[in-house]
Amino acid sequence: MAKTLRIEYNVVRDAQALAAEAAERFTQVAEKAVAERGRARIAISGGSTPKAAFQLLADATQPWRARMPWDKLELFWVDERCVPPDHADSNYRMTREALLDHVPLKPEQIHRMEGELEPQMAAARYESLLRDSFRLEGAEGPRFDLVQLGMGPDGHTASLFPHTEALDEMGRLVTANHVETVKDSWRITLTWPVINNAGSVFFLIGGADKAEPVQQVFAGPRDPERLPSQLIWPSGGILTLVLDQAAAALLPATDGDGCGVLERER
Ligand code: 6PG
Repeated sequence: MAKTLRIEYNVVRDAQALAAEAAERFTQVAEKAVAERGRARIAISGGSTPKAAFQLLADATQPWRARMPWDKLELFWVDERCVPPDHADSNYRMTREALLDHVPLKPEQIHRMEGELEPQMAAARYESLLRDSFRLEGAEGPRFDLVQLGMGPDGHTASLFPHTEALDEMGRLVTANHVETVKDSWRITLTWPVINNAGSVFFLIGGADKAEPVQQVFAGPRDPERLPSQLIWPSGGILTLVLDQAAAALLPATDGDGCGVLERER
């Protein structure tokens, strides 16, 4: 793992610009992966922030739908709530309504986490799906072309919540995580070593309520038990943040192009 982490942040005006920047980045990574390897494997997060980006990708009046190499794309999830796929809290349901129902992806290109199953079983099945999809051997981990992350006000990402057991899981690819602080619920999540093994990782974060945690996580002292997003340290040594101005308010000012860089040492 790289000793130094270069955090490149790109600040855009507002939620609408954030969604457009995310749609552009999803599309660029997919185009590049397909050009280089003939396919693109992307893991997406849930929550509310990515929904507008998914809607833009699906919108035929926008440039991205025609550019995206849908026939060579495979979608995976970073995490899922342990609820049925038609439940209001389901990340899959949000993605189906915003994106999957409107784009030409075949069922075999969509790899859903089975939130309706008993958590440990769902985690084990998804791990097995990853091993098959990526044809993994031994201790190999999957290398997604892109992992898109969000961040909660408590500094969690994926379903890696502060002071939960999943933070210590480094052997498995996927784990179930009991999250007392969120409806005493269960989640399924990729483990942080899997996320860090991706070719590229970007956080998509918007809103004034994220300004404080953004500053603490990316510019403050290391305390990953309290701020699990600090566990994200891509093996290539570069992490990208896509932020709106409200979420970036407490970071050092960007250059004229809205770009800034932070460096962290191990
Ligand atoms: C989830 C997500 C989670 C999300 C953050 C931020 O299942 O909720 O994967 O990690 O990215 O909670 O969510 P918002 O984008 O709604 O702020």
